[in-house]
Amino acid sequence: MKNFDCHIPTKIFFGENQIQVLGDEIKKYGSRVLLVYGGGSIKRTGVYDTVTKILKESGIEFWELGGVEPNPRITTVEKGIKIARENNIDFILPVGGGSTIDCSKVIAAGYFYEGEPWDLVIGKAQVEKVLPIGAVLTLSATGSEMDSGAVISNMETNQKLGVGHPDMAPKFSILDPTYTFTVPAKQTAAGTADIMSHTFEAYFSGVKGAFLQDRLAEGLLKACIKYGPIALEKPDDYEARANLMWASSLAINGLLEFGKGTNRWSVHPIQHELSAYYDITHGVGLAILTPNWMEHVLDDENLYKFVEYGVNVWGIDESKEKHEIAREAINKTREFLKCLGIPGTLREIGIKEEDLEKMAKSAVENNGGSVGTYKPLSYEDVLSIYKASM
Ligand code: NZQ
Ligand code: ZN
Repeated sequence: MKNFDCHIPTKIFFGENQIQVLGDEIKKYGSRVLLVYGGGSIKRTGVYDTVTKILKESGIEFWELGGVEPNPRITTVEKGIKIARENNIDFILPVGGGSTIDCSKVIAAGYFYEGEPWDLVIGKAQVEKVLPIGAVLTLSATGSEMDSGAVISNMETNQKLGVGHPDMAPKFSILDPTYTFTVPAKQTAAGTADIMSHTFEAYFSGVKGAFLQDRLAEGLLKACIKYGPIALEKPDDYEARANLMWASSLAINGLLEFGKGTNRWSVHPIQHELSAYYDITHGVGLAILTPNWMEHVLDDENLYKFVEYGVNVWGIDESKEKHEIAREAINKTREFLKCLGIPGTLREIGIKEEDLEKMAKSAVENNGGSVGTYKPLSYEDVLSIYKASM
């Protein structure tokens, strides 16, 4: 296990009706709030009414930025910064999924930066100061509610890139599983695939001896495998939604990665190119790519890890031949993601063969010449994974 510094700064309020703490928590940081939300789901579900009622009763002034897109755009970040500056906002309150929270994080960072906020995303300028953020989560998937990163798209340049700073982590997040009862099947499935992918990115590491982190990761994967299908079948199953919600946060808050040196991921950067060019749902792209990435990287050196995965997560008989266990584990992964109702190929979601080379080139260029640390992927590797996923 490698050395690490553990600091997970976000305070979590988990469970039904935890929203009651919202007013008091905000008042610890500010009193002029920018309420940020997506395309309207919070208005349809009643969460908007609950939140605004609490803000009013707590004497907190607020302004609104609605319409944050899935795969949030830099143009929406710019809009948010403008509203925030015009109204001397001192706290940002995203209510929604990862897109809304990510957009809010970059509004909070861009507020203090004189230039174009896109500079912060591409690393032309560094994030130095950030407005405080607190999140109300409505979709279990990205873990943005408990991490310090954000992913923003620029559709003009076909780029979707991540930016992070410790101060971008929410000061607190409210996780009420009942708020996810209304998440549609497609997003429930994509969210489950995303949580699993975050776990895989940490689990598949060349670092040995992180026994504890690996068992935690396997526990999270088993929770997704158990509860993803239940949440699809019975969207208001509290136990299923609660387990998925907590898994969402734990998969990416650092817990699985400390000591493992997996800070450069493999499948996520390849997927971000698909969303940058085609605006597809993050978790859907991950679900299609993941089994093909596994097949591509499996070799004699890392075979033991796939065996561990197959035996501990899928319960495959450990007396079987090792290659057989690894192949069975990958097949089970593919079958599971398909049983969630996610398409099995990139072609089915509209990706065209003629764009694969362009996207593979961008993936490698955007990641310093190769993708990921597990088994660094060259242009040819990425292209081959894309082709296998068609
Ligand atoms: O926009 P609204 O109307 O709110 O509807 C959303 C949206 O259409 C809907 N939804 C959310 N909660 C709902 C609901 N519908 C009904 N009931 C509810 N309770 O779901 C749709 C998807 O929402 P979105 O926020 O886009 O999904 P998600 O949470 O999966 O976020 C995806 C974004 O996060 C990024 C992804 O790349 C993508 O841009 N990621 C962020 C990460 C991070 N910050 O650490 C890591 C991830 O790997 C990921 O890259
Ligand atoms: Zn993800």
